[in-house]
Amino acid sequence: MNICIILAAGEGTRMKSKNSKVLHKLMNKPMINYVLEASDSVNVKKKIVIAGKNKNDLESLFKDEDILIKEQKIGKEYPYGTGYAVSLALAEIEDNDKVLILTGDTPLIKGDTLEKFMDYHNKNGNTATVLTAEIDDPTGYGRIIKDNNGNLIEIVEHKDCTEEQLLIKEFNSGFMAINGDALKNSISKLDQNNNQGEMYLTDIFSIMREEGNKISTFLIDDVEEVYGINSKLQLSIAQEVLRKRINEAHMANGVVMENPANIFVEDSVIIGKDTEIRSGVRLTGKTVIGEDCLIYGDTIIDNSIIENEVIVKSSVIENSFVGEGTDIGPFAHLRPNSKLDKKVHIGNFVEVKNANIGENTKAGHLAYIGDADLGKNINIGCGVIFVNYDGKFKHRSIVKDGGFIGSNANIVAPVTIEEEGFIAAGATITKDVGKGELSIERSEQRNIPGWVERKKERDSRKN
Ligand code: UD1
Ligand code: CA
Repeated sequence: MNICIILAAGEGTRMKSKNSKVLHKLMNKPMINYVLEASDSVNVKKKIVIAGKNKNDLESLFKDEDILIKEQKIGKEYPYGTGYAVSLALAEIEDNDKVLILTGDTPLIKGDTLEKFMDYHNKNGNTATVLTAEIDDPTGYGRIIKDNNGNLIEIVEHKDCTEEQLLIKEFNSGFMAINGDALKNSISKLDQNNNQGEMYLTDIFSIMREEGNKISTFLIDDVEEVYGINSKLQLSIAQEVLRKRINEAHMANGVVMENPANIFVEDSVIIGKDTEIRSGVRLTGKTVIGEDCLIYGDTIIDNSIIENEVIVKSSVIENSFVGEGTDIGPFAHLRPNSKLDKKVHIGNFVEVKNANIGENTKAGHLAYIGDADLGKNINIGCGVIFVNYDGKFKHRSIVKDGGFIGSNANIVAPVTIEEEGFIAAGATITKDVGKGELSIERSEQRNIPGWVERKKERDSRKN
């Protein structure tokens, strides 16, 4: 059976961060999660993460997952190194297990590649296989040393290389597949006799070879997949790769993207075909967008469901539902728990929160609709405010089908406006309104002739 060990105890000092390196996020997901997800393609029966000072953080990250976390104590009094880290998992390994060793700081590895790698290891009857790549400048990486027949002899760490070895372009990615019995045997023979005084996992290869085991390398074409992250700059470079992969997958599925270099879509998002996403859009969380939608630039949609043929112009939508054919914005804000039915119109500078809005209802400009249930075919005038908060508690208001709320009206919750209730502009409504009633709440207008002229005379006398 396959066992996967993910090394994640390293200090990551070059990140210059108080947070653990492997918990740094790419496209809003911790980098170690990408490695774990890739390992799912290999069908592993046990996943073991070697944690260091980040043990508590990793435990809470994986509290709902079937992942075993082993603690590597970090400090001068403890051994250090990738070999020591792997030794902490040996008790979990049976002789006939195949162990896949991965590093938590290489999030670009693809599941496909790991699958091919394990197949190669098994089909060749190898005892150990190292996943390698080639690069012009492999500074920092362990070099792959082979004999004239191309057999792996040993891996030499950069700091321990001779001048000649430094010229070798093939390097150790840090990913390897090793049979359980050979791993246990060789790790027990590791020492710390090297330039860094560490227990190098890479030293097990020469040990295994001397004992007559079949070991080989698996060279991948795309060096990007084994890109390791040690700094914030590398973090941003890797995020760029992931962002591009996600956008390219959407385009392959029929989504139109204007300026994809400036569109940020998390991998949890689903988008229907023929939907067009314009520059600067950010789609996050469990967002689902239907087909034939048009999402204009600078829109943010988080955790929301958008049905087909919706138009959103430069707006923010959070934890909400938007029905088919509805249009939103520009500059509207749907706050959590807004549920808009079909063909609703939410226009400029309208804010909606915790509200249901029925089919074909329109709020074109400058309104606040909070804690309200609106029926169908209602017109909400400019500047209408649903006054939902009395300083202590929130209350709901109801407007039934066909209602008309005049501009600048205040609907002071809790009130109910029955079908086709008609609220005069500027009214402050504190009592229920019956079906088909007009409700006016404002003092009668007085026009005073000659008032301005008299004021001017008064003012000139003062001067
Ligand atoms: C390691 C390899 C090197 C390879 C490179 C690929 C060794 C000795 N060297 O070097 O051949 O080219 O990866 O990126 O293996 N870790 C622990 N505990 C430790 C030390 C490290 O869990 O005591 C973890 C780190 O968190 C990291 C991984 O092991 O995820 C690799 O450690 P790192 O220190 O980055 O090794 P490199 O020097 O990069
Ligand atoms: Ca590294």
